[in-house]
Amino acid sequence: MKATATANANIALVKYWGKRNAELMLPQNGSVSMTCDGMGTKTTVEFGDYPKDVFILDGREFAEGVEYEEVTGFLNLVRKMAGINKKAKIVSANSMPTAAGLASSASGFAALALAASKAAGLKLSRKELTQLARRGSGSACRSIGEGFVEWKKGSKEDGSDCYAKSIAKKEHWPEFRMLAAVVSKKEKKIKSRAGMAQTVANCPLYTCWLKTVKDDLTAVKDGIAEKNFTKVGERSQLNCLKMHATMMTTLPPIIYWSPATVEIMHAVMEWKENGLESYFTMDAGPQVKIMCLQNDTEKIKKRLKEIGIENVMECMPGNGAKPAKSHLF
Ligand code: PMV
Repeated sequence: MKATATANANIALVKYWGKRNAELMLPQNGSVSMTCDGMGTKTTVEFGDYPKDVFILDGREFAEGVEYEEVTGFLNLVRKMAGINKKAKIVSANSMPTAAGLASSASGFAALALAASKAAGLKLSRKELTQLARRGSGSACRSIGEGFVEWKKGSKEDGSDCYAKSIAKKEHWPEFRMLAAVVSKKEKKIKSRAGMAQTVANCPLYTCWLKTVKDDLTAVKDGIAEKNFTKVGERSQLNCLKMHATMMTTLPPIIYWSPATVEIMHAVMEWKENGLESYFTMDAGPQVKIMCLQNDTEKIKKRLKEIGIENVMECMPGNGAKPAKSHLF
């Protein structure tokens, strides 16, 4: 009744922003991401004679609050699927700042989905595992798969055709890089869940977002298949800016960027004009993820240092969720 799993974060190239069903976590639009090697979560789950669920993340015990509710709510789904009612101990360790916009909830729920389902004795297919992970945090479904992953939005009300699938293995494009420039370690003020609900509810640009995302999906998927960096980079950057345009134009406005975010965006555009090709993408936080090719990573890190950004994590396409032998307790 004890199992451990690892999962990596993922960074969306075509973003998910908005749900059509909040309980089942069904998205309004499809998305595509890269699973980030080495930026992940390890989680051990044990169902046993615990009086209540125990959740420890990065050494801190959560006995109540949003995080605790999300994790225990997720375990309730697993318990229901497995027909068990034992409480669990969950110990998790992240290798990046939690909730700072580096997708720790994605790796967290992907690792939890695999560890908890195994600990509960469930034998889920990869597809079913993505559907379970999605219930914890939408984007977590993409962290189950390796390399480049598409989350299909599906159209059925019960969510049975909504799942994520790897569209290219990590070996397909090992030169592709994400450089995560950490500009702040503070927790974000508005979580993606609340931010996207507000956007869907009152952003006047949201219908335009939905109309144009389909083209972005086609361009980015084609670009990945062809290994056409310009196609993937340009379209991902555009898609990110469109998503942020919808965030900014809701009431009250949601602006995740900090001055350092904008400074890096300008720098990336200037480098490109001068022949150093890279693109930026941001999620629900101030961090900037820079897409580039392996040969340019050192040059870009040096230039980031010149503008005062020293904390940069480099990722290549990585593994999907995997069981692990060594437990955290
Ligand atoms: O799955 P959530 O609730 O963490 O939402 C993720 C939303 C974005 O990171 C902004 C976009 C994405 O597709 O990852």
